[in-house]
Amino acid sequence: MKVLLTGGAGYIGSHTIVEMHEAGHEVVVVDNFSNSSPKSVARVEKIIGKKVPLYEADVADEAAMDRIFAEHKIDAVVHFAGYKAVGESVSKPVEYYENNIGSTLTLLKAMKKAGCKKLIFSSSATVYGAPEKCPITEDSPTGNCSNPYGWTKYMIEVILKDYCVADPDMQVVLLRYFNPVGAHKSGTIGEMPNGIPNNLMPFITQVAVGKRKELAVFGNDYPTHDGTGVRDFIHVVDLARGHVAALNFDKKGAEVFNLGTGTGYSVLDMVKAFSEVNGVPVPYRIAERRPGDIATCYADPAKSLAVLGWKATHGLEDMVRDSWRWQSQNPNGYED
Ligand code: UD1
Repeated sequence: MKVLLTGGAGYIGSHTIVEMHEAGHEVVVVDNFSNSSPKSVARVEKIIGKKVPLYEADVADEAAMDRIFAEHKIDAVVHFAGYKAVGESVSKPVEYYENNIGSTLTLLKAMKKAGCKKLIFSSSATVYGAPEKCPITEDSPTGNCSNPYGWTKYMIEVILKDYCVADPDMQVVLLRYFNPVGAHKSGTIGEMPNGIPNNLMPFITQVAVGKRKELAVFGNDYPTHDGTGVRDFIHVVDLARGHVAALNFDKKGAEVFNLGTGTGYSVLDMVKAFSEVNGVPVPYRIAERRPGDIATCYADPAKSLAVLGWKATHGLEDMVRDSWRWQSQNPNGYED
């Protein structure tokens, strides 16, 4: 298939180009580089030994999107593009709703004009809010998001479900990601957060490489095995392969899948594994809980295995080793 990746230069997008290519698909990328670099795509081209058509454009630019669909016969779209910083979304709700939702609506209009009927959307476990129970199945209650970023994911899911009702030929897959970490085994592509990282793994790697003094562990009084928050960390290559599996899912309507491993690790489990596997110390201190955080969140990935034939194959060691390989080889991300 020929697949358009919006936000394809980003962390998950760049890894997905590689996995799509390995599965025999052709990829076209559109990205406005608002939070990514064209260098990631150049590095992907080195990994796969092939040029990737790359458009610098905003998904909200309808004329630009029409041009891409006119120049390529796109069979499916994977929609990664969007703002993703939780804290920033609280202070800039209008920008988040406008950008994330507006660009999705423009994409749908462009897809409609081009007759493109297949869409895979980057949703998030954040739509489950504070889950009543773990592991979380796809039919667990959604909503109660703690920030505008989460609500944009929730609202886009609603919009895409409505769109499938209006066009019964549409095939939409909503992928709810748990916590992506790790990097391609080459160490040449990975996550490059802007400024101070919000997420755990990039913070750990920046402490390990000496860019930050210590990790603040947000709370050690949660009802978990060691008191620190438990999450379902998933290797980004597994996550990328989940999109390839979703591409092969041939069913009309909107269908939801969790992309997680089913195993929860705590913040301190991650710190310990990282130090032990890589032989690098990660100084930390216990700090206050971060507002909006929940104690425990991990997936039930059974539906993804049963229906898509997908499951995560990378373990904790792979995750911490590959995260460190990327960070240590590229202390300044794509600026190196
Ligand atoms: C967060 C977002 C989620 C988003 C995801 C993207 C919230 C409430 N959720 O998930 O919507 O989809 O990122 O990956 O923000 N931690 C520390 N110290 C740090 C950073 C994190 O102790 O410096 C802890 C957190 O308290 C949490 C765990 O590490 O227990 C994971 O945090 P993080 O990586 O930010 O992910 P989530 O909060 O699960």
